[in-house]
This record gives sequence, structure tokens and C-alpha cells, in this order.
Amino acid sequence: MSPTDPVDCVDAALNVLRQRLHKARPRIALVLGSGWGGVAERIEAPQRVSYADLPGFPKPTVQGHASDLLCGRIGAHEVAVLTGRKHSYETGDASGMVVPLRTLRAWGCDVLVQTNAAGSVRADMPPGSLMLMADHLNLAQRSPLVGETGSARFVDMAQAYDPDLRAQARAHATQQGLALHEGVYAWLLGPQFETPAEIRMTQVLGADAVGMSTVPETIIARHAGMRVLALSLMTNMGAGLSAETLSHAHTLQQAQASSAHASGFLHGLIAALAL
Ligand code: HPA
Repeated sequence: MSPTDPVDCVDAALNVLRQRLHKARPRIALVLGSGWGGVAERIEAPQRVSYADLPGFPKPTVQGHASDLLCGRIGAHEVAVLTGRKHSYETGDASGMVVPLRTLRAWGCDVLVQTNAAGSVRADMPPGSLMLMADHLNLAQRSPLVGETGSARFVDMAQAYDPDLRAQARAHATQQGLALHEGVYAWLLGPQFETPAEIRMTQVLGADAVGMSTVPETIIARHAGMRVLALSLMTNMGAGLSAETLSHAHTLQQAQASSAHASGFLHGLIAALAL
């Protein structure tokens, strides 16, 4: 029978990975959100393990989101790619990615690179823009660490997004002649999009983009002692900031339109990362 306790799931999932991918030693864990799947297609010597074979890994419920762990190389780096994430709006619980991320940490990954699709709340950051996450607002006010015990749960979030990795991302963008914004991502639970009033609220609070993911994973990763880098692809302007009506289909379509650009940048950045 499959274990249900997270600690047992991590042990069991780690065993599966060590058995099936016994030569793999990835240091970079990569979470691919909407619009970023192209990175997975460019991985060299890929090996795939379905989440279904990994205890405690999420079962997919959102159309357009994949669910495999992929292992392979990007440049000189070995990477472990989570092609799908569990969103907190699926259950109301923010801990859906605890087992996958702790498993990858235990496997040897000490860097987490995250990607997402987001709504822009900044006029100078139109759809198609890329934004490096400098910080976040946990407006959903949920934590994947609820129920943890011990002092390690009081995680310092002052440098949630690693300054050195961010500097490398900025330098790579400059070298590629690519515009890379940097800003604050506000996490709202969803799954409904925001109201125009909520979007104005996020602007007042200092957000540059809004989305329904990423923040729980950052908290899990920081708790586990991983360094985090996160990139957002703007798929739309926040509600009320443009005439368009928001929908999941529209988000996916816009993500698709910018995916070559976003994936190309991330692939080059990971290949160039100095760890
Ligand atoms: N709001 C929340 N999440 C999103 C959006 C948005 O406008 N676009 C893509 N993900």
C-alpha cells in the first residue's frame, strides 16, 4: 500500500527515484508553470517518471498542466523537472507540493527554479513580459508549514528569492539583450480571477503581478534550505486594467504565444548558472 504520511512518502518516492534513475545527481529542481513547458522539451538525455509512481506526488486535475518528473541535463547542470504542480485552489490546502519538493531536496537538489503565468498590474509590463520575482505578498495567508513543529518552522523570508541567483538572471538578460522586469508577486488563492477592486488593492500594497501559485513552494523550499529563483510570464493585465475578459483558456493561449521566448530565456539562464 502507498504511504500517506509525508515523511514516509518522501522516503518511498526517494527510493523510486534512486532505483529508476540511479545515476542521476540533479542539483537544480525546476517547477514549470503554464507557458514554460518548452524547457522540458529541450532537456538532454531526458528520463521520465510519472507522478503516479511517486508516493505523495500530486495527481493532476487542471487541464493543460502535465504531471511527470523529468530528469536530464541543461548545459552542464543536471536538473529534476516537476512538469506539474498542485495548486492550493484545488483543495484549499497549501501543502500540496511538500512531498515533491522535500523528495528533490533529499535527492540532492539545493536550488529551486520556479516559473509561473501571472497577471500584470503594472502598465509598463504588458502581456508577454517576463518578471523576475524579487519578493512576494502572501495575500492568501496560507502556509504549507501549518502543523510543522520545532523552531525550523519559523523560517526567515527576508531573502526568499536568492539575491545571487537574481543577479545572475539580470546579467543573463542583459547579455541576451532581453527586457527582464523585476518585481513583487502577490499570491491570491483563486481559482476565480480577481475583481478590479482586488487588483487595485494589490497595486496599493506594492505588487507588480498577481497569480495563484509559487509562493507555497517558495516557503517549502526555504524551510528545506534551498535557494529559490522564480520567473513570471505575464499572460494578461489584471482585471479592470484592460478591456479583455479573463479565462483559463485565454491565459493558456497567451502563455502559449510567449512560450518560445520565455522557455528560450530560461533554458539559456539555467545553462549559464554558476551554483
Ligand atoms: N490573476 C491570477 N492569476 C493569474 C492571472 C491573473 O490575472 N493570470 C495568470 N494567472
